[in-house]
Amino acid sequence: MSTNFPILKNDLMLKALKGEDVPRPPVWMMRQAGRYLPEYMELRGKYTFFERVETPDLACEITMQPIRRFSPDAAIIFSDILVVLQAIGIEVTLNPGEGPRIPNPVSTPEQAFALRVPDVHDRLHYVMEALTLTRHALQGEAALIGFAGAPWTLFCYLIEGKGSKDFSRAKAFYWQHPEASKHILSVITQTTIAYLKAQIAAGAQIVQVFDSWSGLLSPEDFNEIAFPYLIEICNAITEAPVILYPKGSWYALEAISYRTKAAALGVDWCITPEYARVATRNDITLQGNFDPSKLLASPDVITKSVHRMIDRFGSKKYIANLGHGILPFVPVDHARAFFDAVKFWEPSENK
Ligand code: CP3
Repeated sequence: MSTNFPILKNDLMLKALKGEDVPRPPVWMMRQAGRYLPEYMELRGKYTFFERVETPDLACEITMQPIRRFSPDAAIIFSDILVVLQAIGIEVTLNPGEGPRIPNPVSTPEQAFALRVPDVHDRLHYVMEALTLTRHALQGEAALIGFAGAPWTLFCYLIEGKGSKDFSRAKAFYWQHPEASKHILSVITQTTIAYLKAQIAAGAQIVQVFDSWSGLLSPEDFNEIAFPYLIEICNAITEAPVILYPKGSWYALEAISYRTKAAALGVDWCITPEYARVATRNDITLQGNFDPSKLLASPDVITKSVHRMIDRFGSKKYIANLGHGILPFVPVDHARAFFDAVKFWEPSENK
């Protein structure tokens, strides 16, 4: 399929990432394609999770579902961070209601040192195909976001074998086998760099790196276990803007903002917009940070809270989003209230 793409008519995302003036902030939602949408549930009934991820037509269709409904300013490709573990030869399963499982997690240094950087074009070709299809389907109405998991977050799943509230096995493995752990983190880093570059070549206009579990690390351990690899990834990706989402790592915002080349930082709802702005010296675009549970409040409360959030972040250098993924039981009308609240927000002098 051709990579001669339609021109981008909606450039709000790219402008916000460059810090340029915009009439209103752009908006999209983490996990905007997902279980709260009846049309997603229909496909979920017919195909397994990895069938949906590995079939470019299905991944494209699922990515487009929220675009048709809400016209957000960005589409995020339907996939999962765990495909990178599959690419390095690790079996991953996902059964409904169970969360991801790795039947044979890495448990010895020998297994760790045996891991190698794969050819991502070969192992993950279906993601690149889905991106190219979706970029055409979008017709320039929204920017296309590719993504990957951060090395520390993928390390957590690779060692723990499943989700966890503290990933204590993964932490224990790091401290018991630091050299083997560094080998794993560096294999994931090199794979991720090649993978993000391939996604951009295939049509992604922006990439986001999800460090969903960085907030489980102390500031000191973050600097050792997570940060060097995030710096390496951000600095290697020069072909498109990078949004870095280090969930829970409020303590690292300042250092991340000046030590990486990330174009934007994703923040969760546990910090104030004012704190995030001061910590990053108003130097970098911020994305977030609506509490996903608050989408269960009435549409009226959602609208007011979203307007307050934009007033506090400011409309410049800002991308309106949730602080984490949308929850499966959010009514569709409440999701719509969120998108509309951003689109109909007005600067205070017009209010
Ligand atoms: O944001 C999007 O709409 C794009 C698609 C996307 C998915 N996963 C689809 C998905 C993205 C960006 C991800 C990233 C991801 N996957 C992360 C980082 C972001 C985060 O939420 O912290 C993590 C930690 C994973 C691993 C993962 N995949 C988990 C923990 C789960 C189970 C949780 C759940 O919501 O069921 C998944 C499955 C998954 N990935 C689903 C979707 C839509 C649900 C699958 C289903 O039941 O249909």
